[in-house]
Amino acid sequence: KEWTKEERYRVLKSADEIKPLYNRIQLTHYRQHFHIQPITGLLNDPNGFVYHDGKWHLFYQWCPWGAVHGLKYWYQTESKDLVHFENKGVCIKPDCEYDNKGAYSGSALVTEHSIYLYYTGNHRDEDWKRIPYTCLVNLRDDGSVHKYSKPLFGPNDNYTEHQRDPKIIYHKETETYYIILGAQNKQKQGRIILYKSKYFNRDWVFAGELKVPGFEDFGDMWECPSIEHIGDHDVLIFCPQHIKIKGRGDSIHHNGYLIGKMDYETLTFTPIGDFHVLDFGFDSYAAECAANIGNNDKAILVAWMGLPDASYPTDEDEWSGCLTMPRELTIRNRRLIQRPLDALKSLRHQEIDPDEGILPEACEIEMHTSGNLEMHLFNTPQTDGITILYEDDTKSITIDRSGMKKRFNKEQGEARTRQLDHPLTHLRLFIDTSSLEVYVNDGDALFTTRVFPEAEEHHFTLIGLADMKIWTLEDAMKN
Ligand code: FRU
Repeated sequence: KEWTKEERYRVLKSADEIKPLYNRIQLTHYRQHFHIQPITGLLNDPNGFVYHDGKWHLFYQWCPWGAVHGLKYWYQTESKDLVHFENKGVCIKPDCEYDNKGAYSGSALVTEHSIYLYYTGNHRDEDWKRIPYTCLVNLRDDGSVHKYSKPLFGPNDNYTEHQRDPKIIYHKETETYYIILGAQNKQKQGRIILYKSKYFNRDWVFAGELKVPGFEDFGDMWECPSIEHIGDHDVLIFCPQHIKIKGRGDSIHHNGYLIGKMDYETLTFTPIGDFHVLDFGFDSYAAECAANIGNNDKAILVAWMGLPDASYPTDEDEWSGCLTMPRELTIRNRRLIQRPLDALKSLRHQEIDPDEGILPEACEIEMHTSGNLEMHLFNTPQTDGITILYEDDTKSITIDRSGMKKRFNKEQGEARTRQLDHPLTHLRLFIDTSSLEVYVNDGDALFTTRVFPEAEEHHFTLIGLADMKIWTLEDAMKN
């Protein structure tokens, strides 16, 4: 379908307007069981992930009308355990002059009283020139949404129109609030700029550009930046665009991180190692972190299971995108370690016999293994499905999705290989109707991919030594 501008930027006046679309979509094949997915239309970045008053709040970028980027809303979900989620409806509407063409990505701050959401008002004038504003919304405990009548600040003239995705940070030592924004300088290089204030909701001033020694020329725009403090380290997470990275095929959009030290005095982030990607698979972008409650050694990360400029087989069903499962984030040997949350075990329903070689629509597979391994998921007598191949002598693991009947985004490469630091001993696979998340060796590596199996592809085959368990998983989304 070709979308006109009017169709993409159509304003949603009431939830009733999308009922017929919603009803149609519920009957399509690839709806997920335990991942956050849009009720209709397109989901992209997770936003405003935060814990408050006994609940986790997680929002996402949402375009109601179909699998297309257009007028963006913040859609709200809630969870008590980060496993079961409830849809709460639209939270931020792009209904002001300053956000007339979209309430773009941002983050959350909890004060004593309620939640504050910082986002980018994507304004466009009559000539379709973009003017980004940094805006604020108060989400009160009674569920009411109060938008500030004016933005906190507008664009900085020394950068291009690409200035967005505010991350709010409170720096305790100096009792100062910072907002960091992803930006592009006039030489078309990706940058992070900072604003600061003594107050979370007023008096914001430009503080300067973040210096990241060694990364002055690293992609033309940095989207969704964030600085997390985990254990004794600072971690700068961002999405450099339009750059090729070794081991990532022809992909030009990445989500990765630098571990290092943040100095708010000099506005310098000094990395102590290389840029690493967060996920070695295919479909993962715009990760958002929430601070863990009561434990600074951990954070929680969730990402968009999708990519900019990509299309997916569900596009024709008028929906696209979902979020990854939230993951526990820690640091080991100067690397981020991502593990499934313990609470996910509560979804395990029935243990089934691996010898039958059947892959249920929603399941978890846990394997202890040693030596070479070759596994085919969603294979048939004629096709290989998704191949997971591990070679012990090189310690390299490959995930190849070219054997699926439904192939997509082929031009970005259909296989990803990663060399492990340690021999492969442990795998945990989370399979939902249209996604696969592969956790390697207790968080050493993670591969995420969308996958769209047909009915006859729900099988698997294993060649190698493994002790394996499979559980079907329960549904975790409540509408
Ligand atoms: C990243 C992004 C953000 C922007 C949002 C708009 O995927 O482009 O930079 O705020 O999506 O939906």
